[in-house]
Amino acid sequence: MNSAAKKCRICSAVLVPFIDFGDMPIGNAFVTEDQFVAEYFYHMQVAVCESCFTLQVIDVPDPDAMFHDHYAYFASTSQYMTEHFRQMSENLMTKYVSDDAPFVVEIGCNDGITLQNFAKAGIHHLGVEPSENVAEAAREKGIHVISEFFHARTAGEIVKEYGHADLFIATNTMHHIEDINSVAEGVARLLKPKGVMVQEDPYLGDMLELTAYDQLYAEHMYIWSITSLNNAFNPHGLEIFDVERNHFHGGCMRYYLCRKGAHSATLRYLEQVRLEEQIGLNRSDTFERFRSRCEQSRDKLRGLLEDLNAHGKTVTGYGATAKSATIINYCGLGTEHIQFITDTTAVKQNKFSPGAHIPVVKPEEMSRTSPDYAVLFAWNHFDEINNKEKDFVSQGGKWIVPVRMVEVV
Ligand code: SAH
Ligand code: TYD
Repeated sequence: MNSAAKKCRICSAVLVPFIDFGDMPIGNAFVTEDQFVAEYFYHMQVAVCESCFTLQVIDVPDPDAMFHDHYAYFASTSQYMTEHFRQMSENLMTKYVSDDAPFVVEIGCNDGITLQNFAKAGIHHLGVEPSENVAEAAREKGIHVISEFFHARTAGEIVKEYGHADLFIATNTMHHIEDINSVAEGVARLLKPKGVMVQEDPYLGDMLELTAYDQLYAEHMYIWSITSLNNAFNPHGLEIFDVERNHFHGGCMRYYLCRKGAHSATLRYLEQVRLEEQIGLNRSDTFERFRSRCEQSRDKLRGLLEDLNAHGKTVTGYGATAKSATIINYCGLGTEHIQFITDTTAVKQNKFSPGAHIPVVKPEEMSRTSPDYAVLFAWNHFDEINNKEKDFVSQGGKWIVPVRMVEVV
């Protein structure tokens, strides 16, 4: 446990938590029965720095406890995400990989969902991925990957061995890394003068709007905004010059960064900066209201499941997401509320959910048992899953969507 972080990791201002989620297991740490007794928990409190406005989980486990050779998240389990990152790759190749000898670095490349497109196009690339099992899945796709945690020193070594990069990609990864100052220093070392960093992850504005508190867990120790990301990267000579929003993973922002002045700020970037001021991402009352909605949402979900249970309805879970660990443990749910959770990921199956120990089973169990309700923990993949599970829906099955203050659809 790193207990040093009662101060903001970005600017060292003192942090005051605005919400306490209680003791939490690691979101992706699915367990076998013999591991129940020694399960690891951390105290999950969240704060927004009043100086640089970075929203952060205050204490988190060491990275080695979260990212290792049996990491449970395989990005390519979603067809829609695979297509999303194919389109992103094409777009980036057209716009930012025009140099004579292009070089692309991706951190958190996972099973190669994005880099496979650069590898297929014959572009010189390097993945930096500490979780050995997913890194191996990427290598099987012909991708060049080193199994390391990225930081300033790694960047120096990459420059020595491969040269400077045209493009630095980090999707759904920058919120996993505690020492962002070291990452920013590394990016500054790594990029060519006109090089571009592209980051995409769940956006703070969307999390607040949807009351999607399940975006918060140890691996998601930051939820970024334009304001906070600029505050983290500006001291290292980097700045955001463009942004793009999309609806993936419950609402993401794609940020484009460069060396100060290397690219002109776009109108849509300036517009989004104005919008952030309007929605109050730098005001403490915004987060007080969010906390109150989280508590209401928790009570509503628990009440609904207890009610269904009392009326003899069967309820299962869909998608053993890391996010679900926050919901299940914060709401105090167990097998009395949710019989089992289905998931397509082989390494999660036949294990138990972290903390509450709800069995995780193959998706076929859902069609076999035809539950009345399924809590859609993978709500961020609603369209893909709803299309796939036509039988469940046509037989009268209902989704319980845990965001937007809990919806039954
Ligand atoms: N980029 C993929 C996967 C995101 S999951 C996507 O967008 O879907 C986050 C990944 O970051 C994990 O595979 C994890 O092992 C990796 N990661 C965690 N800390 C890291 C670090 N310090 N440097 C590089 N990768 C890291
Ligand atoms: P995801 O929501 O992408 O991320 P996180 O774990 O970070 O919260 O995880 C989706 C999970 O849902 C993953 O374990 C795979 C599973 N899943 C299915 O079981 N069926 C599906 O059709 C899809 C798209 C995902």
